[in-house]
This record gives sequence, structure tokens and C-alpha cells, in this order.
Amino acid sequence: MNTKHLQQNSPTDITLAGELLRSGEVVGIPTETVYGLAANALDPTAVKKIFIAKGRPSDNPLIVHIAELSQWAQLVREIPESAQKLAQAYWPGPLTIILEKSDLIPMETSGGLSTVGVRFPSHPAAQAVIRAAGVPLAAPSANLSGKPSPTTFAHLCEDMDGRVAALVDGGDCGVGVESTVLSLVGDRPRLLRPGGVTLAQLESILGEVDVDPAVLHQLKEGAVVSSPGMKYRHYAPKATVKLVEGSPERYANFVNAALQNHESGYALCFDEDLPFLTTKTLSYGSRFDSQTQAHRLFTALHELDGMGAALVYAHAPKKSGVGLAVYNRMVRAAGFCIEKPQAPVLIGLTGQSAAGKSTVAELLREHGCAIIDCDKLTRSGEVYNTECIGELCTVFGDELAPNGVLDRKLLAARAFADEPSKAKLHEIVFPHILAAVEREIARHTRNGAEKIVLDAPTLFEAGLDSRCDRIIAVTAPYEVRLRRAMQRDGITEEQAKLRFAVQKTEEFFLTHADHTIENTARESLQKKLAPVLTDLDELTA
Ligand code: TXA
Ligand code: MG
Repeated sequence: MNTKHLQQNSPTDITLAGELLRSGEVVGIPTETVYGLAANALDPTAVKKIFIAKGRPSDNPLIVHIAELSQWAQLVREIPESAQKLAQAYWPGPLTIILEKSDLIPMETSGGLSTVGVRFPSHPAAQAVIRAAGVPLAAPSANLSGKPSPTTFAHLCEDMDGRVAALVDGGDCGVGVESTVLSLVGDRPRLLRPGGVTLAQLESILGEVDVDPAVLHQLKEGAVVSSPGMKYRHYAPKATVKLVEGSPERYANFVNAALQNHESGYALCFDEDLPFLTTKTLSYGSRFDSQTQAHRLFTALHELDGMGAALVYAHAPKKSGVGLAVYNRMVRAAGFCIEKPQAPVLIGLTGQSAAGKSTVAELLREHGCAIIDCDKLTRSGEVYNTECIGELCTVFGDELAPNGVLDRKLLAARAFADEPSKAKLHEIVFPHILAAVEREIARHTRNGAEKIVLDAPTLFEAGLDSRCDRIIAVTAPYEVRLRRAMQRDGITEEQAKLRFAVQKTEEFFLTHADHTIENTARESLQKKLAPVLTDLDELTA
């Protein structure tokens, strides 16, 4: 078949795409998630062509795409209020809502199911093509079945040139992973596939949402699947992919050893891993930047094919927010092969002053974690030993330690006088802190600890983040922290505000953690901590 290449910015091309679709042809179209392979959703013959082009099993249902809210009602039996609210909040966008289908949807489109997933994409070219076609469009991701979804026009052409009537070039896809699939069939809302709209965003509208077990775990042989797509091998590049859990340092150590004599081995890693890796690398974003990871993931898998990778050790992404979607795709690309860390695992616990870290640390202790209170350690003679005090006197003056005993008040006055002095203090003290922390880690390890928590407000400043297999950030509203700091430390509001002003921002902690916990009240803390504990237990299982 001679496949036409069409441009999103050409009105005649869009009109042509619409005509082809109306006449029963298949057209590759861009969306904000991934490229889709579209056909008239109401025409069984047209829809069959999609399955042939993709080589897709016919029991795997297709998502129906609309470009006006008014197109929705005719496709489903009923639109409940919860669905209306979701559409209002997240459409157009990367969310597919599954409801009971109407008779208008043929069985070919629904894969034989009585339900249908509908999505209103936000990509202007997707909307333009749907409008030009004048019918709702069934569109799965435009990859050959089993391969990574295409997120660039080049990748679309690689898989579909010669197999369909036309391909519309819409540039690179923004989100990079397929839409969130949510089922509103049944008594409780259920997340079938995580995507750009997060679980937290869904729950902010719906209350509790069940997460289908297939999102994170391999289905048992013969298990009943809520979403047929979950049972197929997915997102796989040519290389064997293995997922490796753990901190940047731990991951790099493992991969460096494993790929030592491997010519075509690659580390599919995060930016933070790069300084520790001695292998061939491909980074797909920062460890904490799930959005960038999602955007780059499928492109990276394609690139690995291009580079001739045979064995790939991918660093496991975090599972919260959009990270859940990245993890879901990655664990499938890896065929659920996960290398877990040797005990003990290290958990960084950090956040702003008076956010309530200690309360969280206490709960973690109850859960069997050993706790290293880095603040307490820092104040101890372990850190401010003779050597450290000597170095401080050289820089800040001998008056600092008249009889070898450190005058902490004077040190604080001088070291916190300005930024350069503070930097100097850190330069001297952090190595001593790190050494003391390592001694504590070694001690707990000897005692058989499986999980060790580093309770460390300056985790990042000290460079301990690269040692941590997980980082938990504790936050609380500014007013709450003020009140707590004044009560706890007997300081004035002014003093508390000054202290907060020199710390990293809440935004920083929110974006630099695997898990964030807003600690507003002790009563709700257990519940907020539950998924974190599950994650930690799975990490050490
Ligand atoms: O972002 C997206 O959703 C992209 C773009 C093109 O819109 N489309 C996409 O479609 O990813 P597809 O077919 O590759 O993935 C749809 C997934 C499959 O796992 C399928 O089994 C599931 O959604 N699904 C679709 N309709 C369903 C239904 N009625 N019940 C359960 N699962 C359904
Ligand atoms: Mg797909």
C-alpha cells in the first residue's frame, strides 16, 4: 500500500485524512499521548483493518476518540455524574473513561465487550482530524502489536509505512505514554492503566479509586483480566530489558559489574546515575522527574534498538504520580524481571523544619526500620571531633574553640553570617557527617537491619540522596510549621520565619522524592503512610 504522508498544519491534508477515514480507511494520527491508528469507530469493516495493520489480537478493545463532548452520549448507555465531573476536569486530555457501550458501538470496536472506553484528546491535530472525519474514531496506539508505542513521526513511519492509507505528521507527542484508563463500570472506580492523569488527580474527584492488580504486578496464569491489553507482552524493544531497583549508587555498582564484559549492554538510567556509571548509558530524565521520563521513555526504547543494544539494565522509576505510568510500561518492557537490592535498603527522610519528620520516623520505626537521626548525630562529638574542630578554627578563627571545646554559638554566628561562610561550613562539616552516617549504617547493618532510615533535613546538601533507595519528603502547610516550630523550639515567629527562609522550598522537596507525605494530623498519617510501607516492603521482599 502506498501510504500518504500528511502535515498537521495543512488544512487540505486534514480534510483528506477526514475523507479517507469516512470512506473506511485507516490513518495514523498524532495525539498528546502517543500516535494512534484511527478508523471510523462505528464501521466494523474499517475497524478490522486496524487489527490487521497492527497485528493485534481481536479481543483487545479499542478506545474511541471524540472531539466534542456532545459526541459522547450516543456511544455509551449512560453517563454517570462521576464521569461528567471527570470529563469536566481532565478533558480534553490523557484520560479514557470506560462505561457500558451503546448499540452504536460494534463488537469489533469493543473487542466483544459490553463496554467502551472514550477519550477526548487535547492534541489540536487529533481534534481536527476527528472533526474532519465527522465520526468518532477508534484508535489504539500505532505500534505493531507488542512493540513500544510511537511518540515521534519517524517511529510511526517505521511501524506503519505501507500498512495504512495515510500518516499525519504532528511532531513529537507531549505526554509520551498512553492515556490513563479508568473503568466506571461496577461499584467502584478502577484504574486499569496509569497515564498522564494521575491516581491522585482521579481520587481528588472520585474519592478512593481501586488500582487493578495488573497495573504493577504480573498476572497469574489464567487470571481474569479487567483490561485485555494487560495480558499481552508489551512495550518491548529488541533487547532483553531488566529492571534494577535501588539508589543511583547501588544501581550503578550493580550495572557496572553486570555489564563489564558486555559489548552491547546499556544502562537505561537517570541523570543522577550518570556520575557513577562506567558502562554505555542512555538517560531518560531525572530520577524524580516522572513527566520527562514519560515523555522520553518510548523514544529511549526505540533508540536502544537503533544502537544495537542486546541487554539493557533499566533503573526502576518511582511509582507515584505520573511515575506509576512510567513504571507500568517499564516493568512490562522488562517482562517483570526485577533485580531487587540486597538488604539493608536506605530510606532518606527529609523535608522542611517542623513539617513533622520525627512523627513519620517514629511510625517507620514501629514498622521495623532502624532510624539514624542525622541532626542529632551532627550535633554529637562523632562529627565535631578534634579534626573537624581544628579545620573550623583554621577558617573561622581560633577563638571558636578556646580550650579545644567548640563554642557553638560563635560558630553559628560566624558561619551563618553570609552564604560563602555557610558554604565553607558545609564543606568542612559534611564529610565528617557522611563518615559518621556511614559508621551508623554499618552498625545497623551488622545488627541485621533490613531497612535503615536516614532522618536528614539536609539530605540533599550532604549528597546523601544518591545513597538512598527511596526518599520520603514530609511537608506541612507553612502556618502549621510555624506553630510547631515556635512551640517545639521556644522561638519567636520572626526566628522561625528566618529559619524557614534559608531552607529548600517545599516545591523542592515535593519534586525530589519518591513519596511525599503531608503531615497535617497524626490521625491521618497511618493511612497516608500505608502505600509507602507497601512500597518499602516490596523493595525488600
Ligand atoms: O493514549 C491512548 O490511549 C492511545 C492514543 C492513541 O489515544 N491509545 C491507546 O490505545 O493506547 P490502545 O488500544 O493501545 O490501549 C488501550 C488499552 C488496552 O490495554 C485495552 O485493553 C484497554 O485500553 N481497553 C480499551 N477499552 C477497554 C474496555 N472497554 N475495557 C477494558 N479495557 C479496555
Ligand atoms: Mg497500545
